[in-house]
Amino acid sequence: MQQTPAHASAPAYPQTRMRRNRRTGWSRRLVAENVLTPADLIWPVFVHDGPRPEPVASMPGVERLPITEVAKRAKQAAVLGIPVIALFPATPTALKNPQGSEALNDQNLVCQAVRAVRAEVPEIGILCDVALDPYTDHGHDGLVQDGEVLNDASVEVLVQQALVQAQAGCDIIAPSDMMDGRIGAIRRGLDAAGLQHVQIMAYAAKYASAFYGPFRDAVGSTGNLANASKSTYQMDPANGDEALREVALDLAEGADMVMVKPGMPYLDICRRVKDAFHVPTFAYQVSGEYAMLQAAAQAGWLARERVMMESLLGFKRAGCDGILTYFALEAAGRLAGQNP
Ligand code: PBG
Repeated sequence: MQQTPAHASAPAYPQTRMRRNRRTGWSRRLVAENVLTPADLIWPVFVHDGPRPEPVASMPGVERLPITEVAKRAKQAAVLGIPVIALFPATPTALKNPQGSEALNDQNLVCQAVRAVRAEVPEIGILCDVALDPYTDHGHDGLVQDGEVLNDASVEVLVQQALVQAQAGCDIIAPSDMMDGRIGAIRRGLDAAGLQHVQIMAYAAKYASAFYGPFRDAVGSTGNLANASKSTYQMDPANGDEALREVALDLAEGADMVMVKPGMPYLDICRRVKDAFHVPTFAYQVSGEYAMLQAAAQAGWLARERVMMESLLGFKRAGCDGILTYFALEAAGRLAGQNP
């Protein structure tokens, strides 16, 4: 609900001069309403089974990393004060099938990476996505039958996937699949397995977005998905109220934290979620958002570092407690070295 601002009846110009507070650097710092710190950042990282880092063509500056390298970079992130790293597998094509069964292999890429980071960087939190798309040959997040993405049957598999990841040492399970009822089912599954301490960050308001393009390239699901759409499970970008229903349901089912995704085109949703629920709220500045800023910077059209920092601060202003961003390492480095 909108309230009348207290300053609506304040004296106008020339008594009031908005520029007075902006005149000096110290004054601008003094009146700043929001601040970005490394503790606000979650760093998504792609793991592959190759021997060397391999660039992701559509995400300049992002690489698929071998497991040993993931642990090294996780250490760097922890030293810079980044609290959480998010691990995504680029599963070899030969291991993909309609059931996404590699998701349940406790020796899969993501589980190996979780163990490596857990062993070498105990002070960082580890987040894993729960969804079948990095493992299915059709590229969908769930099981498909007669052209339909099945809900309840998919949820059963997703619970198993969450358990495998949690048992490998993942701290935060992040279901990104958008099946109905999966948060509750995963919570019950974790609790029954004695994993009550494992947190759930629900991709609660996840939209069917074209901004995920470069990510699908990174995990190798682009070709598989071909022209298929995820609109029967991810949200319609036209909807806002529906995001609040999704968040309410995920919280009722036991989510500890919620996420809005993508980020920049959905800052209105971040604000509405934060104001309505007052729970830990995150946004995912997704691959396409990263790609467009990088591309414009490479063309010399935008000042890279400044748009990076401005875009991240925008999430804080919109009410987010943190941001998943491919800029995390660089932004944290900048914050650490920054002089006032
Ligand atoms: C898996 C998943 C996706 C992203 C995160 N988890 C892709 C999708 O839903 O198609 C996208 C992240 C990004 O674009 O950076 N379900």
